[in-house]
Amino acid sequence: MSKFFSFFITIFILTTINCKAQQKQKMNKGIKKSIAGKVDSLLNIMTLEEKIGQMNQYNGFWDVTGPSPKGGNAEKKYEDIKKGLVGSMLTVRGVDQVRSVQKIAVEDTRLGIPLIIGFDVIHGYKTLSPIPLAEAASWDLDAIEKSASVAASEAAASGINWTFGPNVDVSRDPRWGRVMEGAGEDAYLGSKIATARVNGFQGDDLSKVNTIAACAKHFAGYGFSESGKEYNTVSIDRSTLYNVVLPPFKAAVDADVKTLMNSFNELDGIPATGNKFLQRDILKEKWGFNGFVISDWASIKEMISWGHAKDLNQAAELAVEAGCDMDMESYAYVDELVKLVKEGKVDERLIDDAVRRILTVKYELGLFDDPYKYCNEELEKTVIGSDENRAAVLDMAKKSIVLLKNENQLLPLPKEGKKIAVIGGLADDNNSILGSWRIASDDHSGVSILEGLQKYTGNQLLYKKGADVTIGETAFTEELTINTTDTSDFKEAILTAKDADIVIMVLGEHGFQTGEARSRTELGLPGVQQELLEAVYGVNKNIVLVLTNGRPLTINWASEHIPTIVEAWQLGTETGNAVAQVLYGDYNPSGKLPMTFPRNVGQIPIYYNQKQTGRPLNSENNVFWSHYSDVANTPLYPFGHGLSYTNFKYSNLKVSKTNFKTDDIIEVTFDLTNTGKFYGKEVVQLYIRDLFASVTRPIKELKGFELVALNAGETKKITLKLTKAELGFYNNNGDFVIEPGDFKVFVGGSSETTLETEITLH
Ligand code: NOJ
Repeated sequence: MSKFFSFFITIFILTTINCKAQQKQKMNKGIKKSIAGKVDSLLNIMTLEEKIGQMNQYNGFWDVTGPSPKGGNAEKKYEDIKKGLVGSMLTVRGVDQVRSVQKIAVEDTRLGIPLIIGFDVIHGYKTLSPIPLAEAASWDLDAIEKSASVAASEAAASGINWTFGPNVDVSRDPRWGRVMEGAGEDAYLGSKIATARVNGFQGDDLSKVNTIAACAKHFAGYGFSESGKEYNTVSIDRSTLYNVVLPPFKAAVDADVKTLMNSFNELDGIPATGNKFLQRDILKEKWGFNGFVISDWASIKEMISWGHAKDLNQAAELAVEAGCDMDMESYAYVDELVKLVKEGKVDERLIDDAVRRILTVKYELGLFDDPYKYCNEELEKTVIGSDENRAAVLDMAKKSIVLLKNENQLLPLPKEGKKIAVIGGLADDNNSILGSWRIASDDHSGVSILEGLQKYTGNQLLYKKGADVTIGETAFTEELTINTTDTSDFKEAILTAKDADIVIMVLGEHGFQTGEARSRTELGLPGVQQELLEAVYGVNKNIVLVLTNGRPLTINWASEHIPTIVEAWQLGTETGNAVAQVLYGDYNPSGKLPMTFPRNVGQIPIYYNQKQTGRPLNSENNVFWSHYSDVANTPLYPFGHGLSYTNFKYSNLKVSKTNFKTDDIIEVTFDLTNTGKFYGKEVVQLYIRDLFASVTRPIKELKGFELVALNAGETKKITLKLTKAELGFYNNNGDFVIEPGDFKVFVGGSSETTLETEITLH
């Protein structure tokens, strides 16, 4: 860029500094050059304080359209926005509120830099899609991308331009309540879903009014919180970090995710927020990420509690040095960074780098062209809750359901002539099924499972609660440990069940028993639900158990006794319609578990891609091998498991090359036949095992999948491909390598595959 041009731009900006919003918009529109050039020009005229302001995010908690807040931090926040010391707000929502807060930033500050408005759009905005773990069970990447785009369009219509999602934390520990937010236990599936979600949120053009910036979180290792306890320390080896934890983040970065959020945990004894190895060495240098990193809520300050920083001043220094660009609610940057730069402790170039990243995203969103572009009342009215959006979340909900067991073909239900008892407090619940993390939606706005079933009028439906899960209404902000002990409604439920042809029992977790800060050590059915299940089973064995929950549960007894089990998670707004359509066979389930179901809590962490160990089960079957003496090594339901109303047969596995070279593409082909009576879809899964390697490899690794639709009796030849990207791994230096030797290739309908062959790399 010529000096003259840059001088001209700077003069142009300076002369318009005190203009009102419209003039500022025009000014920005008038600058016809690349975003990078615009950002540099703006940086040139910013004071140190204004730059650091861009790195500061506050939570909005007051009525921005009302009187200015008083007391505590509220007043400071308000004043700081006016002084240009705030770059972003979170949790402000609705066109009215967003416009008001944006107006302060744009019209009352010296430079009029618009705020970026962040919000936890985790599974839908007002129209809720299934919880992310449930969506992952669909293995349907197009549907998942569509779901994220629906969420983005509603959030954007409400003034929001940045979501704190997707959560791409791989986790093998269902005790951790946040597994409901992620895509489950597998890095490969998790990476594909991370890409789909980023594409869904951001679309093909970030400046459109129906797309928002995404944020891959929590960087990194949070899903491995020790013993599943929230906000806990993490201890993982390099191999797990590189091969399991980081790939979904890398996939998000490759999909051009605009932001990342760091995490509450530490890694190698260094809190992730102050972890230079993660944020600078890997993310920004090795991967070339050029978006920005935001801290998690007060995680800069929490480095003091961790015993890593002695005070807020040092915490700010450590975080900025480590590559954390924006401070969410620690007041560390806004209060400490100016001092640190002036004292020469922090190089101003680090500040410039962070601000450049933040301003770039604001430019890409089009906020400089029109800071109010997301503030369109008309769109707010028409987009949010539209029929189209409800149809999309219903479609996603049906695809997320997993049929765990269907003995005696109790499902699909006959459509008429039966007496059906519906039992369980969760059946008649239009709130819990919305799941956790649904801040913008209205309470009780879901279709309950009972309501969904009532739409099928051919059978006689008799509902009895039997038991609640918890005591009374519960909210996201409450500590929820109070399961009910009340069995007084058992009696009439049992009587009703006794007299019915079929009993549908809807049991599981309350919607707020999973999510942030909802770790559990008992993973059975909470409260008295297990007792209720056994009591009803005592009078009628024709039970269809519908589970609604946010994590894998230990349901051994049910799995042994109950003929039919449907995993219906928490499916959001359209839960009841989706469940009813699946139970009645208007939709044939095709979901597959994205996370292993353990037999008991003692087996956790349990996951399909474990290591062989030096002592796997041997032929002599002696006692000294890697196992428990009180429970099998196998899970209750494995990763990838899920049935259909029809049956699928895998046969004729072939590979295009048994001996291959590094750059070869290996085609894996096999036949899939629908041997049952219904049209259905099957997620075919391809796994590999690298038999001998310099760093030991898991016994199986998912490396491909496809959703295949087949009519009854139909056979299709399926081809999946393997390349070095699937056959290699990260060594302990973080380098991607592929080593010569033998590999097994497996194919099947779950991680317990049915066909296998071998290939060799020379
Ligand atoms: C804390 C959570 O860990 C994070 O995921 C979320 O985005 C922020 N709070 C903001 O709500």
